[in-house]
Amino acid sequence: MGIIEERKKRTEWFMDARFGMFIHWGLYAIPGRDAWVRSDEEMSLEDYEQYFEEWNPVNYDPKKWAKAAKNAGMKYAVLTTKHHEGFCLFDSQYTDYKSTNTKFGRDIVREYVDAFRAEGLKVGFYYSLLDWHHPDYPAYGDMYHPDRNNEKYKDKKRDFNKYLDYLHNQVRELLTNYGKIDILWFDFSYKGHFAEDWRGTELVRMVRELQPDISMNARLEGSGESYGSIMTDDPKVTAGDFTCPEMIIPMKGLRTPSGTEVPWEACFTMNNCWGYTPMDIHKKTASQIVRKLVECTSKNGNMILNVSPTAKGDIPKWQLNILEEVGEWMHENSESIYGCRMSEFEKPEWGRYTQKGNKLYAHVLDECVGAIALPGVKGRVKKARRLCDGSEMLLMTPWVAKEFPGYEFVNYGKPDYCSFSIESTPDNVIELTLEDK
Ligand code: GLC
Repeated sequence: MGIIEERKKRTEWFMDARFGMFIHWGLYAIPGRDAWVRSDEEMSLEDYEQYFEEWNPVNYDPKKWAKAAKNAGMKYAVLTTKHHEGFCLFDSQYTDYKSTNTKFGRDIVREYVDAFRAEGLKVGFYYSLLDWHHPDYPAYGDMYHPDRNNEKYKDKKRDFNKYLDYLHNQVRELLTNYGKIDILWFDFSYKGHFAEDWRGTELVRMVRELQPDISMNARLEGSGESYGSIMTDDPKVTAGDFTCPEMIIPMKGLRTPSGTEVPWEACFTMNNCWGYTPMDIHKKTASQIVRKLVECTSKNGNMILNVSPTAKGDIPKWQLNILEEVGEWMHENSESIYGCRMSEFEKPEWGRYTQKGNKLYAHVLDECVGAIALPGVKGRVKKARRLCDGSEMLLMTPWVAKEFPGYEFVNYGKPDYCSFSIESTPDNVIELTLEDK
């Protein structure tokens, strides 16, 4: 099997799942100024050390997190096993800079894996390729390292290969000690640190050997900025199985130049930060998230939505509220998300279509006046039901629509041009059953 066929096979469940939970958690939850705080503020390792000394998230209860994810309709999760700061949430034998070595003393990754699996969710590991703690990771003069301008490190010798051994060893640990892992999420490549600079082919061979079914993202070659060879018709071994647009939804489904679909997953925060940042009050709404999830699905992509637990180990209340609200919509409408693909029909003016075989889901995102015109399906709709409650919608052309013969029409009720408003729901879904072709 070629790389493209293999990736299709590996990502099948993933593309059906559509909706996942991202969890960004590390020492940076204590300063509470996002995950990049050490780099943003060019903070020294000595100054950062206090957070390691303090780390003790006594409320950590991943069973609660897993329940929140499940109730929101999420099918998988990805946890930062190590973010750029270098602190490991797992019990690695290659470092002392790990949760098991703090007051807290627990292997956070182990408990996460057990809890999420118990809820029937697939589990993924985020692993930062960058490491601002490791003594052999380039610091002075690096683009992002907190010590990039720190003269103290100017002449310090660093052996990057030693760091790469460390990285490879830790990936081996993560993929050996925690059973079947469903997703591997590397983050990220940049100038001078790209694919083979990470000894990428060797790394991917190991990953595939240890976990043949794992879906690996595309950031061993790319980042939010560039997606790498996965976008070509000749992807490299390091290309990964899916790409990850960050805080953006592609304008159309992603394809290679010859038209092959490229699996993708958009990652979003609930405010503007990945790590816990109480001062960031730019919160998205549940309705916005539902609509964006629908948009991703309608373009053949997934959405992974971030939560940012506190230093005590709680997902913030406002984030739980959003998850709950999204869950209410999913409870009634998830059939229009799971297993759905881009529709064969053109995008309707009032919203979007998603499709699964002969089920076409009309996501009515605008307030409508009168009957709703369905483009592309004239003469093909057998029946129409509101997805939320299974109630019948009238398939008929009202007398006021006679001038528009190219469309099929659905009506909410009698009179046959009655209007409805979507104020109370983020998205009204109409399930249309199509005649077989
Ligand atoms: C960015 C950031 C990182 C974050 C990631 C999630 O590339 O470097 O902080 O974890 O996006 O997509």
